[in-house]
Amino acid sequence: MKNTSLQLPLLLVVAALVCCLPTSGAELPGWAKPRLQRLLRGGARSAAAHGRRFPVVEVTVAKNGSGDYRTIAAALAAAPKSTKKVRSSYTIRIGEGTYIEQLNTTRRDVTLFGDGVGKTVITGNRGSLKHGDMPSSATVTASGRGFMARDLTIQNTAGPEGNQSLALRSSSNHTDTLYAENGLQLYLDSVISGTVDFVFGNAKAVFQRCHLLVRRGREGAHNIITAQGRDKPGDDTGFSFQNCSIMAKPNENLTGVETFLGRPWKNHSHVIFMQSFLDGIVHPKGWVEWDKSKHVLETTKTVSYMEFNNTGPGSDTSRRVNWEGFSVVDASKAEEYTVDRFIHGTQWLPNALNYKPGLY
Ligand SMILES: *[C@@H]1O[C@H](CO)[C@@H](O)[C@H](O)[C@H]1NC(C)=O
Ligand SMILES: *[C@@H]1O[C@H](CO)[C@@H](O)[C@H](O)[C@H]1NC(C)=O
Ligand SMILES: *[C@@H]1O[C@H](CO)[C@@H](O)[C@H](O)[C@H]1NC(C)=O
Ligand SMILES: *[C@@H]1O[C@H](CO)[C@@H](O)[C@H](O)[C@H]1NC(C)=O
Ligand SMILES: *[C@@H]1O[C@H](CO)[C@@H](O)[C@H](O)[C@H]1NC(C)=O
Ligand SMILES: *[C@@H]1O[C@H](CO)[C@@H](O)[C@H](O)[C@H]1NC(C)=O
Ligand SMILES: *[C@@H]1O[C@H](CO)[C@@H](O)[C@H](O)[C@H]1NC(C)=O
Ligand SMILES: *[C@@H]1O[C@H](CO)[C@@H](O)[C@H](O)[C@H]1NC(C)=O
Repeated sequence: MKNTSLQLPLLLVVAALVCCLPTSGAELPGWAKPRLQRLLRGGARSAAAHGRRFPVVEVTVAKNGSGDYRTIAAALAAAPKSTKKVRSSYTIRIGEGTYIEQLNTTRRDVTLFGDGVGKTVITGNRGSLKHGDMPSSATVTASGRGFMARDLTIQNTAGPEGNQSLALRSSSNHTDTLYAENGLQLYLDSVISGTVDFVFGNAKAVFQRCHLLVRRGREGAHNIITAQGRDKPGDDTGFSFQNCSIMAKPNENLTGVETFLGRPWKNHSHVIFMQSFLDGIVHPKGWVEWDKSKHVLETTKTVSYMEFNNTGPGSDTSRRVNWEGFSVVDASKAEEYTVDRFIHGTQWLPNALNYKPGLY
């Protein structure tokens, strides 16, 4: 939750299995192609080209004034309403540059399309200490169904002294939890970095080919990668990490800092790391109590923390926590957490998208 940053070659968020889905990069023209002007593209053909079944309104943002807008917020504010009768998706192409903005998008079917990771950067510096509660610290809050962001970086540069700061808060509706909050989500090739609970929330999300880069937090604090928030035993949310890597962020000195895979934000916290690379920074115990100094027997029974076929010096499970809720699973169990099985990806993801539906 602290000083998070998220680089998004591709992030897809959907609220449900809906017909109208974000398209893949392969079908979209590059930034340089279209003139920097507002385009209203109606008709089935252009919609189909965007992988949508309804018109796409596309606008551009450029810091140098060559686009339709100079700020992303202005472009968002100008979005035409999308109603059941008159529906449209809204694509904002954001040129290279650092945009110091705090965004809150609630509209359905919004796509933020940058010029490249590290080139188009949306940045905020709000932490919860100075700026109220944690949710409002988010640089980008995305709660509209069908939100998608790609080829850009979203960051929150509030330091550890900001206490809790969010880069992206994404959800399909307005409940009060955070980050990977609600609905079905797929993160591909994303770089996520932070210190404490930096992937958290109560979504059903798969992270594939993602790089989790751990940083040094406040003095004396330990790092925790996930704080998944499944609350009730009957819920089906959880985080699945497949073909990801966990490493220290380059030039980050993690000597003497313990790093854990997760802790139970809620009693039924549900997380699997599979077919991923776990570097030596991962603590041999792997997982940790919500409050490290207190052993809560009940919670260690109700969580589901799993590992399957990981590699790397941190992947040795022989000294992991001895919890009823922890297990090293077999391939048939791991299969349940793949894109196809866990988030039903083959039903809603664009065909051209490069992801692995099953196990590697
Ligand atoms: C203005 O910014 C856009 C987007 O970053 C870029 O493509 C374009 O070349 C720039 N134009 C000038 C004149 O600098
Ligand atoms: C975002 O906007 C919605 C609707 O205006 C509002 O209810 C919500 O509180 C806002 N969230 C943040 C984090 O500003
Ligand atoms: C920082 O956040 C934690 C919750 O993670 C809270 O317990 C703590 O009191 C906060 N620290 C300050 C200085 O507000
Ligand atoms: C928000 O999410 C909750 C829990 O998933 C669901 O029960 C509720 O219907 C959703 N509300 C809206 C407006 O989508
Ligand atoms: C890394 O941190 C440790 C513990 O704080 C310290 O002893 C060590 O000198 C640091 N190493 C470097 C290269 O800064
Ligand atoms: C991801 O999968 C590819 C292809 O099987 C493999 O080469 C690569 O090492 C994997 N990465 C990790 C982090 O496991
Ligand atoms: C979670 O577990 C704790 C510890 O056993 C218990 O006190 C609490 O009531 C549980 N919460 C829920 C929502 O089940
Ligand atoms: C685990 O991965 C190795 C390669 O790293 C592979 O040879 C082995 O078959 C995998 N085990 C299972 C159960 O899939």
